[in-house]
Amino acid sequence: MIGVFDSGHGGLTVLRALTRALPRRSFIYLGDNAHAPYGDRDPEDIYRLTLASMERLFALGCTLVIMACNTAAATGLRRLQQTWLPVHHPDRRVIGVFVPMVEAITGVPWMDNIRTGHHAGEPRTIAVFATRHTVNTGVYICEIATRAPEVKVVQQACPALVRLIEGAAPRPVLERAVHRYVKLLMRKLDGIAPAAVILGCTHYPIVADLFANALPSGVEILSQPDITARSLVHYLQRHPDKDNQHGETVSFYTTGNPALVSRLASQFYGSPVLFQAVPDELERALTGS
Ligand code: DGL
Repeated sequence: MIGVFDSGHGGLTVLRALTRALPRRSFIYLGDNAHAPYGDRDPEDIYRLTLASMERLFALGCTLVIMACNTAAATGLRRLQQTWLPVHHPDRRVIGVFVPMVEAITGVPWMDNIRTGHHAGEPRTIAVFATRHTVNTGVYICEIATRAPEVKVVQQACPALVRLIEGAAPRPVLERAVHRYVKLLMRKLDGIAPAAVILGCTHYPIVADLFANALPSGVEILSQPDITARSLVHYLQRHPDKDNQHGETVSFYTTGNPALVSRLASQFYGSPVLFQAVPDELERALTGS
């Protein structure tokens, strides 16, 4: 069983691409809606909440989890993979959603860390739009720089966007916000269009059209859901043992109010979704209460 985790609804954009690419796998989605958004929280708080949700997904039977939340992955993916997982769940795997993006841009596999035997590509500029927290971690800048120093990464935080999207703000409000962030980015770039843009937050694909309209024409927007899905297909080909329970079910869990969370979900997932609460007995077992 493959788990997909996000702070809220955003990861549904990734799940949608994963279920299309892997229709014969079973997925469990978990949104930590009770604590979303993560973007403006303290890093230790985000890490603690992320570990709690990893525990929930493992307890629900997931052997492999896609951390479909840039904010959570930027904060704690390496720490979790290097210190927590080997001690508490050495048989489980967690993959972060920004990793396939870094691989796609640099052409360097994640585990290689630095470029070996690759030729430097053309110098180019990539822009990243993300939550304030993801921007503060500098994860895209660091991870791309170690693999492809010829790629310049310019970041723009979009602090209001997740709240607006989760609050089902009307399109004109979203449009104004996106225009403002694109304008701020273009000012940093002295008006010169970047080669490509990463929407480095899983909520943003549902306003990808607004970003496309606001950016100079011809700027490529790299699709995080599609790139993550392609990467997972390859991962499972290389590691067939990491998800050995095949099936075709998709279940949706939330730490928030299932009825409220379900109401907004279809615009992220593309079809109606029925969320359920994380079972009480599982929560009690995990918190020891
Ligand atoms: N969707 C999440 C991301 O990819 C974060 C949203 C939030 O909780 O702030 O960064």
